[in-house]
Amino acid sequence: MTKDLLKKAYDAEHFREEGHKLVDLIADYLSKCNNNPDFKVMPWMEPMDQYQDWKDYMHKDDDILSFYKKFLDHANHLHHPKYIGHQVVPPLPVAALSDLMATFSNNGMAIYEMGPASTAIERNVIEWLLDFVGWNGNSNGLITSGGSLGNLTALLAARQNFPEYDIWENGVKSELAVMVSAESHYSVERSIRIMGLGSESIIKLPVIDHRIDSNLLEDELVKAKENGKKVFALIGNACSTSTGTYDDIDALADFCNKHKIWFHIDGAHGGAAIISEKYKHLINGVQKADSVVIDFHKMMLTPALTTAVLFKDGNKSYESFSQKAAYLLDKKGEIKWYDGAGRTVECTKKAMGLKVYQMIKFYGRELFESYLDTTYDLAKEFAKYIEEIDDFELATQPDANIVCFRVNNGQNEDELNAMNASIRAKLLKDGEFYIVQTNVDDKVYLRITIMNPFTTLDTLKELVEKIKTIN
Ligand SMILES: Cc1ncc(COP(=O)(O)O)c(C=O)c1O
Repeated sequence: MTKDLLKKAYDAEHFREEGHKLVDLIADYLSKCNNNPDFKVMPWMEPMDQYQDWKDYMHKDDDILSFYKKFLDHANHLHHPKYIGHQVVPPLPVAALSDLMATFSNNGMAIYEMGPASTAIERNVIEWLLDFVGWNGNSNGLITSGGSLGNLTALLAARQNFPEYDIWENGVKSELAVMVSAESHYSVERSIRIMGLGSESIIKLPVIDHRIDSNLLEDELVKAKENGKKVFALIGNACSTSTGTYDDIDALADFCNKHKIWFHIDGAHGGAAIISEKYKHLINGVQKADSVVIDFHKMMLTPALTTAVLFKDGNKSYESFSQKAAYLLDKKGEIKWYDGAGRTVECTKKAMGLKVYQMIKFYGRELFESYLDTTYDLAKEFAKYIEEIDDFELATQPDANIVCFRVNNGQNEDELNAMNASIRAKLLKDGEFYIVQTNVDDKVYLRITIMNPFTTLDTLKELVEKIKTIN
């Protein structure tokens, strides 16, 4: 067996040539996304057709440029101003270059020497973010692969922190419970179940206008105790997924501090508001929380997945996994901050911090603030517009860059649900706009998340006109 194929595949000049072609292709694509009115945001194909197409293509002869072009032709175009669907950012193009570097260097971060620069970079990125939270001294955190994993990581620390049991050592106790918003993201409930707790341990707190009703917290706790439950954590939304509503973080924090309950903020989407002078009030009280999760890949311009898990008491970040992996420890059995595996589910972990560090270094806080303010402002303008036009209505006023609205022409609720679901289905197949739908108070609403900073009010007015014609 020869190594010719390996040599060819690893050849530096081959890489240079292919890389240049790819960068040119992406730059042309970016320009097309912004400047070509006929370019559809979402070229719809049924899942099985898509699957078959890629299956047939796999062993066909083609050049690399055509391969990448084909991928883009079949992708959902997040950099298109008419992408107003899910909460995934069109990443800053140059941040994708850092991601390429991170992918190429493949410096895992289980222990320091696997990725010395990545490890130091991650700590700097986390410290930069911690400054906005307003904790001092002892706080720290880590980066992990996504908000779902971030919520789980924080909740594991919360559970291990509960003074009555050593769960890691002795196993889970069914009397433990967590209070969550009735509107929390599914990853929160999933995390609790992954931790071995069932439905009876998930106390869903009632909401008023999509916020946890803080007036009912004491009663809910009394009820939980009467049911034999020991509440070890409460999770607040900053903001909720469906309507983008922020809980009253300050009130939740005071309640938790009073009862010595771990307060975790799921700020996967809207935690980034801490960086905005204009919108940081939405998350007032954040410094009283025990842990906060913030997705860089949602409101901080970063390619997915990249999530900060922040802890007020940095030592608690070592409690998620009170497990000893001998080869990761020093001789005294101590885990150092720079040996990352002690604090994440991940062992080999990509250098996720590199792309954030790059944006901080070359653009600074203003970049993130400008992005957040632009998208949050536009949501408010669009909501105002929806209120002014006939036969459209809002589900609720937007706190963030998420707006839920529907067509309401006076039909009964079943008919309205069917009509709005059908509008969204037609939009999906039409491909000019990409939006999603959600249920709010058991009614079907159209839902937009303004993720592209180049979406304008005119783009959204065009959407409304499209909805009128497509219906
Ligand atoms: C409030 C909230 N929490 C958690 C998540 C999960 O984050 P990720 O997609 O990064 O796993 C989401 C995703 O939309 C979210 O909106």
